[in-house]
Amino acid sequence: MYFTTQGVIKQEKTLYLYVKYDIISRVENGDNMNKRFITFEGGEGTGKTTLIEKLMVDLKDAGFDAIKTREPGGSKISEQIRNVILNVENTEMEYMTEALLYAASRCQHLEEVIKPALNAGKVVICDRYIDSSLAYQGVARNLGIDKVYKINDYAISGFYPDLTIYIDVDPEIGLARIKQNHRDMDRLDLEKIAFHNKVRSGYLEVAKMFPDRIKVIDGNDTIDNIYKKIKEIVFDSIK
Ligand code: TYD
Repeated sequence: MYFTTQGVIKQEKTLYLYVKYDIISRVENGDNMNKRFITFEGGEGTGKTTLIEKLMVDLKDAGFDAIKTREPGGSKISEQIRNVILNVENTEMEYMTEALLYAASRCQHLEEVIKPALNAGKVVICDRYIDSSLAYQGVARNLGIDKVYKINDYAISGFYPDLTIYIDVDPEIGLARIKQNHRDMDRLDLEKIAFHNKVRSGYLEVAKMFPDRIKVIDGNDTIDNIYKKIKEIVFDSIK
């Protein structure tokens, strides 16, 4: 993607800025004192839902007050925005409109659900957050990570997760799992395999930008093995 020497320098400078912003925003939020905002990321059919369910049971068994929520959605207004974004009939939607709607839904969800729960001392497990926008809209939709990052950083006022679990699965395997489970395909599931491959490479690029925050987990393993790794990382971060 970056062929010229100038391009490489620009990319390195951008990476440096991302890492700097990430650290500054987390320190400003005071989140480094209490690592309780945890997000899950991944392409289609990565098993996120099952893994989050398992984690919720173990967190509660260990005495943590934990809530699970999801994006797009998670609150009344955000769910309404979700319906507009994922409606299979909305084929004429501009990619920028899509990106702005995800960011708007995120802002509402953050202020209405995530921050109050964190302030009440809860662990918040969120299925997708800003990194979904960076991978899907930034890379797969070609809007550019920089642009989508700016929109979202504005929408969330620099409020980043303390820990992000990215489950990395080959899209061919992920989509086959969805079909096997007979789940209905939404507007984004229906994209061609090339789109999902771009989503995956987007996530891997984003994971390199935020190496301290994002942990990449190999999702091509059995669900039990994947879960063991995740549980260890999560419990280690909130202890
Ligand atoms: P959902 O049914 O929640 O998918 P999953 O079970 O895979 O999490 O649908 C959410 C879809 O929206 C999914 O295809 C990913 C996409 N998405 C984005 O493109 N950008 C975003 O910022 C978010 C949060 C989701």
